[in-house]
Amino acid sequence: MIPFNKPYLTGKETHYIYDAVHSGKISGNGKYTKLCHAYFEERYGFKKCLLTTSCTDALEMCALLINIQPGDEVILPSYTFVSTANAFALRGAKLVFADSDSSNPNIDAAALTELITPATKAIVVVHYAGVACDMEAIMSVAEAHNLFVIEDAAHSIESFYKSRPLGGIGHLSTFSFHETKNIISGEGGMLVINDDALIGRAEIIWEKGTNRSAFFRGEVDKYSWVDIGSSFLPSEVISAFLFAQLENLEEIQSERIRIWQRYYDAFNEQEHLRQRLPNIPEHATNNAHMFYLLCDSA
Ligand SMILES: Cc1ncc(COP(=O)(O)O)c(C=O)c1O
Repeated sequence: MIPFNKPYLTGKETHYIYDAVHSGKISGNGKYTKLCHAYFEERYGFKKCLLTTSCTDALEMCALLINIQPGDEVILPSYTFVSTANAFALRGAKLVFADSDSSNPNIDAAALTELITPATKAIVVVHYAGVACDMEAIMSVAEAHNLFVIEDAAHSIESFYKSRPLGGIGHLSTFSFHETKNIISGEGGMLVINDDALIGRAEIIWEKGTNRSAFFRGEVDKYSWVDIGSSFLPSEVISAFLFAQLENLEEIQSERIRIWQRYYDAFNEQEHLRQRLPNIPEHATNNAHMFYLLCDSA
């Protein structure tokens, strides 16, 4: 049997975890969390990154950050994982599902306009298998109707839309480091805030509704409860694991792409399977997150 997924370990994970455990600071937002944030901000130019305990948590932060209220409508792809929907359903949003493009599993940008009503607040897109949605078309529909765009980039590390890193285009984006992803920490995720206006409140929601992050930077002389929030930050044990993976990102990616290509070439030799192979549009790159074949419905 071919397993669905095999977690890849670089060898440094336990070394960094040992270091975190013996540093005397094991809770969140310590040395390894900051190293991971800096890595993403420097490599991809993301404005602000906040590690979370999962991509699901990061999506829930998005719903809080854009103030989803009961009755607000959120457009999302009908073909996705449950977390894309749950995060907004939890805040009472009405979910409006958009169909896939005819040539790949991503949301069909041309179908968005007719789904927009006066109650629409956001469009959530998923770059399925790490292959970019048509972001120019999506951003222009959103701009015309004054809507937030959230990229569910759970699959999308090290993948690009016309040379722009996925996760860096919408107002907010979310990544997953679950064991099945390219870069892992067991469970784990990240919120990326590209809209300056949302950065301050994101830090507060991340830290249980307090301004503790500002306190640690010496900006206030005590911290207090200033908004709603929850406990979204991972411990240093998880961040230490993640940092070991990030240091090996290029090696992990080249191995995944090699294996993906092997599947592609082998299936491509079978004429009856050729139509069922993944289609990577010209605007997108392939980060080899997943290999899929298109099946008949039913
Ligand atoms: C598209 C998508 N969004 C969100 C998630 C949730 O990620 P996590 O397991 O980190 O909460 C997944 C998980 O596979 C996913 O595929």
